[in-house]
Amino acid sequence: MSAPVAALLPLHTERLVLRQVRDSDVDAVLGYCGDADVTRYLPFGVLDREGVLARVQRWRDELDRDPADRPDDGWMLTLVVDLGGTAIGDVMLRLGGAEMRSVAEVGYVFAPSYGGRGLATEAARAMVDLAFTHLGCHRVQAQLDPRNLASARVCERLGMTHEAHLRQDWFSGGTWSDTSVFGLLRDEWSATQR
Ligand SMILES: CC(C)(COP(=O)(O)OP(=O)(O)OC[C@H]1O[C@@H](n2cnc3c(N)ncnc32)[C@H](O)[C@@H]1OP(=O)(O)O)[C@@H](O)C(=O)NCCC(=O)NCCS
Repeated sequence: MSAPVAALLPLHTERLVLRQVRDSDVDAVLGYCGDADVTRYLPFGVLDREGVLARVQRWRDELDRDPADRPDDGWMLTLVVDLGGTAIGDVMLRLGGAEMRSVAEVGYVFAPSYGGRGLATEAARAMVDLAFTHLGCHRVQAQLDPRNLASARVCERLGMTHEAHLRQDWFSGGTWSDTSVFGLLRDEWSATQR
């Protein structure tokens, strides 16, 4: 893993620990990634165990890769969200490659049974803070299906601005879907931290 990031993990928030995935998390990740309600607006469909193992392996491969090896490819950090020893979701920060290096995308997926308590917002806020405070990002953005109102509310709670509504810009499940783009700049984030 990128040494500077490794030294910062795990991340601690008021209620959560954001840590690297463990083999023992696979059943929990399968629990929510195998739920069609959870994956409805995600770029992948409902996952079976094989799909979850592949997803978790991608997280590990990226964690093990030094982003300096292939700087044009960007880099992705995915952490498991741990509440009292249980994996309740995962959060992701994708750093852009080449000229987009200072732009990061944040993503989050949570088990529905842990929804409605502000836990996703709390975890995503820690990732945004990591991006601005430790990874030198200038901008953090989120892209989501405009029908995903719960995700849009997370963005709003993070202080992001709804910047764009792209019409039918991606094809998935045999149909074209729209994308909402939310963005937050480093100065805006800093102002909320004072
Ligand atoms: C997107 C997703 C993570 C949002 O989950 P969520 O439970 O709505 O978000 P939070 O955990 O931040 O909880 C926020 C809710 O808890 C409430 N809440 C209760 N206690 C709270 C607290 N201490 N702090 C903040 N919010 C609190 C908020 O009012 C809010 O409710 P509201 O949305 O009705 O206003 C979840 O729906 C999900 O995993 N969806 C499937 C995957 C997905 O679509 N991911 C996004 C892809 S772009």
